[in-house]
Amino acid sequence: MREKILILGGTAEAADLAARLVAEGKVDVLTSLAGRTTNPAQIAGTVRIGGFGGVEGLARFLNENRIDRVIDATHPFATRISENARLACESAGVPLERLDRPSWTRDDKDRWTEVTTLEEAAAALPGGAYVFLALGRQYLSAFEKRDDCHFVIRMVDPPQKTLAFLNFELILGKPSADPRSEAELLKRHGITHLVCRNSGGNAGYGKILAARELSLPVVMIRR
Ligand SMILES: NC(=O)c1ccc[n+]([C@@H]2O[C@H](COP(=O)([O-])OP(=O)(O)OC[C@H]3O[C@@H](n4cnc5c(N)ncnc54)[C@H](OP(=O)(O)O)[C@@H]3O)[C@@H](O)[C@H]2O)c1
Repeated sequence: MREKILILGGTAEAADLAARLVAEGKVDVLTSLAGRTTNPAQIAGTVRIGGFGGVEGLARFLNENRIDRVIDATHPFATRISENARLACESAGVPLERLDRPSWTRDDKDRWTEVTTLEEAAAALPGGAYVFLALGRQYLSAFEKRDDCHFVIRMVDPPQKTLAFLNFELILGKPSADPRSEAELLKRHGITHLVCRNSGGNAGYGKILAARELSLPVVMIRR
């Protein structure tokens, strides 16, 4: 029987891995998505969407679907699913691999302030700043009380409830790996500060290169 692999996905790297494994044609590939975005990118192989129901649910899923190997290719900040995968694989006796995505490292020209929490990131912004918030919707609340700043917030899907910011603009779209288009966007909105997490990977690196090029301060949230 062919080996059956479960990829825990939701990242460009997971989609690339699924495409590579399907093209090689040696294993059956099933990718799992949490279902956070309404139009996920096309993924090679079989796709299932939605949570498993915690560690127990995932362990049950592994047994019922006769999964031989799990590859955790989730986002580095998606820590709950990674921990669930570790515990579920242990209890189901299924080997687990982690597809690692190294953090971005600071260049001499970068003007980063590194912080460890969202609250510290919000406190690091000077009054009057025009801030590009490159964070998912579940990470915004710490910035809501900074009504002395103007926020430009980029999201993949429109928010389901009104954002509780006094001064903000919403941009719908995904990050670009292209520093020129990211620099254009930052300039167009008069951005003075960028806030992001150190996610690593190519897809989100365009804004980091753009900030370097424009010599913009970056508040970088560490892993
Ligand atoms: N965090 C980010 O900034 C970020 C950025 C880009 C992409 N993503 C992707 O978005 C997804 C959700 O991220 P998160 O930070 O909300 O995760 P999380 O906090 O680590 O996980 C929360 C819950 O969501 C479900 N879940 C997460 N990833 C899943 C997957 N690939 N397949 C099935 N269920 C999943 C699990 O529910 P149950 O306990 O019910 O199984 C998990 O307990 C991840 O797949 C991640 O790769 C996250």
